[in-house]
Amino acid sequence: MLIKEWADLENIKDKLIVKQKLNKDGKRARITVHMSTCGIASGANDVINTFRHLLKESKEKNIEIKTTGCIGICSKEPLITVEITDQEPIIYEHVNEEKARQIFHAHVKNGDILSEYAFVRGKESEIEERLKNGGEILGQQVVDNSIKAIEEVPFFNLQERIVVRNRGAVDPYKIDDYVARDGYKAVYKALKEMDSDNIIDTILESGLRGRGGAGFPTGLKWKFASKSQTADKYVICNADEGDPGAYMDRSVLEGDPHSVIEGMIIAARAINAQKGFIYCRAEYPLAVEILTKALSQARAYGLLGNNILGTNFSFDIEVYEGAGAFVCGEETALIHSIEGKRGNPRLKLPYPVEKGVFNKPTLISNVETLANIAPIVLNGSEWFAKIGTEKSKGTKVFSITGDIVNVGCVEVPIGTSIRTVIEDIAGIVEGDKNIKAVQLGGPSGGCLPVKYFDTILDYETLQQLGTIMGSGGMIVMNEDKSVVDLARFFMQFCESESCGKCIPCREGTRQMVNILNKICEGNGKKEDIDKLEDLANVVIQSSLCGLGKTASNPVLSTLNYFRNDYEALVK
Ligand SMILES: Cc1cc2nc3c(=O)[nH]c(=O)nc-3n(C[C@H](O)[C@H](O)[C@H](O)COP(=O)(O)O)c2cc1C
Ligand code: SF4
Ligand code: FES
Repeated sequence: MLIKEWADLENIKDKLIVKQKLNKDGKRARITVHMSTCGIASGANDVINTFRHLLKESKEKNIEIKTTGCIGICSKEPLITVEITDQEPIIYEHVNEEKARQIFHAHVKNGDILSEYAFVRGKESEIEERLKNGGEILGQQVVDNSIKAIEEVPFFNLQERIVVRNRGAVDPYKIDDYVARDGYKAVYKALKEMDSDNIIDTILESGLRGRGGAGFPTGLKWKFASKSQTADKYVICNADEGDPGAYMDRSVLEGDPHSVIEGMIIAARAINAQKGFIYCRAEYPLAVEILTKALSQARAYGLLGNNILGTNFSFDIEVYEGAGAFVCGEETALIHSIEGKRGNPRLKLPYPVEKGVFNKPTLISNVETLANIAPIVLNGSEWFAKIGTEKSKGTKVFSITGDIVNVGCVEVPIGTSIRTVIEDIAGIVEGDKNIKAVQLGGPSGGCLPVKYFDTILDYETLQQLGTIMGSGGMIVMNEDKSVVDLARFFMQFCESESCGKCIPCREGTRQMVNILNKICEGNGKKEDIDKLEDLANVVIQSSLCGLGKTASNPVLSTLNYFRNDYEALVK
């Protein structure tokens, strides 16, 4: 079937809502297993296989097993949601085969909730409604009050969901699930009710800035890309996500691939491009599989390919697997990689929007940037511009790891304080260890001591403190952790990922690793610290691309805030 009209989208939505509604005569129960890489790594495959086996054995026809992506809280995986007709859903944590068996027999078959295994009651996709209605959803009976309601848990109630709006609610293998949550309506609006200038103005006025690290205004980039009149243009989604500790983009791609595809179609319409690539790292095989399937489903609905929605606009997307080099996330290196060349960066001028893939104008945007586009087009720029700070609008997704309770992906309004994210949302591990620092922005970022935790998360504020928002990796360290060791880890990473094209980066990172090794092993001298600082500045000033230009940041920020830690290690 080809989708051509608004009514076609509405029909799919209406049918799916009816189909998904549980009732006593049809499907009376549903088990949803959250199956992103983090869930699978923790045992979700065993869990779903157990449920499938038990269901087959029981010969029950009125129980459904469904899969979705994750709900962002890796440390509780494997997670499942159990829904019974007219009852509040229950999310179970750390499920294994044995627990799955017990949950199936007690809760799914007999309606007896196993509160000792439960994480929360209620679904994240209904949290806004629950917050509005004092924790109640019409038609859902609260069966076990001893379990915490989802809207009472700071991990969920302090988040604002734009990018992860469909988290845990859609099966990423089913396009109808996405359409049922108003998916592809923004494409309809962009293609049938707006022209290129309207779309670009909307993105400009929204204040959206690129989430890949640099924070460049997205609308402005689209404007530049739209200038060239050539017929051959490209839109690329940068899904390389190479920063150690960053996995926000993976979570979006695995859980809600159409949100990114929809953003790409709108971008292509705005700049008049015919061809798109999703440059996804090969280390994300599940994302590649899900994206490939999602693209073929979008094609089958006429949302990709020739004459999209019956208009004269044609656009298609191909998944391109990157082979694992961090530097290939840098846009000029990424372009070379897609062209089949070695992924070396080049000078930025001419910019990719003028001369990109195969020398054609190319718009490169990050996964999270693109996932913001459909809600902005659908709800308007004013709606988006109300969220965030004066200069940085909207939300940011962070992947937070380290010495915290809730390891996971969180989306918060820009302007939220570091403390809120670390202490309230992630939660500090209770015990006698104090938190010492947070590393933001991965190998290009910096390390901030606790005294700055009331700082707000926005591009300018963080930069002034010598760190960056970056792509959103956040590593929390307690007082047992060595910041010098952390600086060494990131420098080793940059050394091994340097493409070797320019000497300051290739040799400078190596020399800095040598010095850091000496210091960490207790063989350093006081002069080594000065040498390290000098080298760090030289590498910043004389490297060609962003990798070299920022490789020294972890060293310089730790030297700035934790010089004593270095001095304590040298003779
Ligand atoms: C070494 C290096 C690695 C990068 N890796 C990524 C990446 O994995 N994903 C990404 O979106 N941007 C990455 N970037 C930034 C891109 O060059 C580019 O600015 C970004 O994709 C633009 O998208 P945006 O405007 O949506 O932020 C990297 C930059 C450098 C210097
Ligand atoms: S700065 Fe480093 S990674 Fe970038 S081009 Fe130079 S050698 Fe390659
Ligand atoms: S729970 Fe989704 S990234 Fe881990």
